[in-house]
Amino acid sequence: MYTRCNGLLSLTLALCSPCVQADDVGKVVDYRQGLMNVYAHNLTSMGNMVKGKTAFDPAAFAHYAEDLAAAARLDLLVGFPENSSNDESDASDTIWLDWGKFQKRYEALETQSAHLSKVATGGDVAAMKEQFGKTAKTCKGCHDDFKN
Ligand code: HEC
Repeated sequence: MYTRCNGLLSLTLALCSPCVQADDVGKVVDYRQGLMNVYAHNLTSMGNMVKGKTAFDPAAFAHYAEDLAAAARLDLLVGFPENSSNDESDASDTIWLDWGKFQKRYEALETQSAHLSKVATGGDVAAMKEQFGKTAKTCKGCHDDFKN
């Protein structure tokens, strides 16, 4: 795939736009995995409270929920330029074959995490747990389809 980017042709034609140089692939993989790790830190912290592994602290839960929603507002999709895969990456090639569905999976995370953050400020623990489940499902939904 990358060979298309090499040579004079790529300097003169717009052919290069959907392709990424190998160096840049490493950077975008770091970017998207970095975002995922921020998601995971917040989701796991809330999950531990939901599962009773740690005491349920509504204020702390609300803080994690807001940080997850904030992280979900950062543009994940720019971290997935076409065919940006390397040995460090678990991204499935189906992302670029079914980009519309991948976008919808991301929108589901944005929507559900924003809602979780809102629900969490209300302090209703049962509602927080229920919305937590819906949010966690958006992670799994995308991983099932698009993560190796
Ligand atoms: C729109 C799709 C999508 C959504 C939504 C999504 N993920 Fe991911 N996730 C991926 C893909 C694709 C990878 C593999 C990325 C790579 O290795 O290049 C990944 C990788 C990860 C990783 C491994 C990161 C690493 O360092 O290798 C973690 C942890 C993770 N996701 C957690 C989450 C959590 C938690 C959520 C929900 C709050 C979530 N993800 C939502 C698609 C998604």
